[in-house]
Amino acid sequence: MLRRLFSLLLLLSIATSLAGCRRAAPPKFSAGVAVLDLTAELEDADEEEIAVYKKLQADIGDTLKQLTGTPDKPILLGTEKTTDQLRHGFALFTKYCVQCHGVNGDGNGAVAEHLNPKPRDYTLGVFKFTSTPYGSKPRRSDLVHTVRRGVTGTSMPSFDRFSEEQLNAVVEYVLALTFRGELERQLASFAYEDEELPDEEGLTETIDEILAAWKDSSSKIVMPVTVMPPMTEESVRIGHQIFLGKACNKCHGKFGRGGSMGNVEIGKDAWGNEGSAADLSSGMFRGGDRPVDIYRRISSGINGTPMPSFKNTFQDTPDDIWHLVHFIKETGNRRRMGKQPLSEADLPSEPPEKEDSPSSEESSVSELAPVTEETAVTEEKLVEEPVEEEPSVDEEPVEEQTEESAEKTLQPAA
Ligand code: HEC
Ligand code: HEC
Repeated sequence: MLRRLFSLLLLLSIATSLAGCRRAAPPKFSAGVAVLDLTAELEDADEEEIAVYKKLQADIGDTLKQLTGTPDKPILLGTEKTTDQLRHGFALFTKYCVQCHGVNGDGNGAVAEHLNPKPRDYTLGVFKFTSTPYGSKPRRSDLVHTVRRGVTGTSMPSFDRFSEEQLNAVVEYVLALTFRGELERQLASFAYEDEELPDEEGLTETIDEILAAWKDSSSKIVMPVTVMPPMTEESVRIGHQIFLGKACNKCHGKFGRGGSMGNVEIGKDAWGNEGSAADLSSGMFRGGDRPVDIYRRISSGINGTPMPSFKNTFQDTPDDIWHLVHFIKETGNRRRMGKQPLSEADLPSEPPEKEDSPSSEESSVSELAPVTEETAVTEEKLVEEPVEEEPSVDEEPVEEQTEESAEKTLQPAA
């Protein structure tokens, strides 16, 4: 009896030590939707055709592996080999991010299904919270900033305990996944359209194009054109008027309560999820709650979502953006301070401007026009151009400000 118990214990201890020794296999990238789609609707096709597409799928996998490595030995697209920083990034990502963002970075982590909004699918190369103009890639510092502060009001946690080094490493890895995803989608679309992959030259061109967009954005930054005026009751009231006059209410509702009213339908976002206009009165801002953050959301819009850019609308009246910021801040403050939410009685008395009545469908559509080189605000311009007495209307911003100094001067006045 005793001997049997002993041998049972022995067996158990061997079993557990064996299990402990067995290392978890390193994760593998899997084919993304665009690649899987190549064979998705081929039920009726003949075997030969199916074989062609299966071969293309395998070739895409090989090309990706060669150019972007494996999860634990990742290569940043356009570089030759993995780095310690990327491998550190992989370790952090696997520990802190993969359950939501998935091994491929396509937002399909194990718990993603239960989350709303969904974790970002990086593979589209579209990011929401940028300091760059509408339609541009984020700057690396934008991603660092987002990971550090999290996305308030969503499941995306704040990683403010990460050191600079950790933040940079995990963001480097996010970029590696993003470039990989963008290339995969491009290759899948070549395969779909041409039934073949590009030759070496074509491949280099494709890669250069993907990377150029990221390089471009690193020099574009949207800076407020004017210094923020003080936040007064008057400014809040003007802000509310503009809010109604420029059709913000069409999506966000008269009092900025947005999607929480449950009756605003505004279409899908770039990732195929039902969009919902932010509840601006919640006091929680996904894109950050500094005045300059809210300024940029209004001026640049939010990539991939129905929130348009209002850069052109306020070209001649840049202070109007600040008044809107003040109105939005005030709606949030009210709730926090336990004041009554805004109601009909609070609507500003002057009627909103007629020309931009809330039904101006075209105005918001034309705002979505992609930003061109000339219209984009570049950091160099901001630094090089002399400060003029009067900002002229047809020229780009003239304030000489660095991001840091702006962020300091842009604190709320009260
Ligand atoms: C519990 C789930 C969860 C975890 C864990 C998580 N995220 Fe997220 N993440 C999200 C969600 C949800 C969003 C989308 C928010 C939105 O659309 O407003 C997001 C968005 C992002 C974005 C996109 C921001 C933009 O501008 O579009 C980045 C980058 C990001 N996460 C990086 C990370 C990194 C790096 C980690 C780990 C260190 C991480 N996330 C961990 C849920 C998560
Ligand atoms: C076509 C619909 C639409 C219109 C018009 C619109 N918005 Fe939005 N807005 C949205 C959506 C959708 C979001 C949320 C995007 C997301 O994060 O998914 C949003 C988000 C925002 C945010 C970001 C809040 C945060 O959480 O960081 C601000 C600020 C904002 N809108 C202000 C405005 C202002 C001011 C106007 C008018 C000048 C305006 N919006 C007009 C749809 C709209």
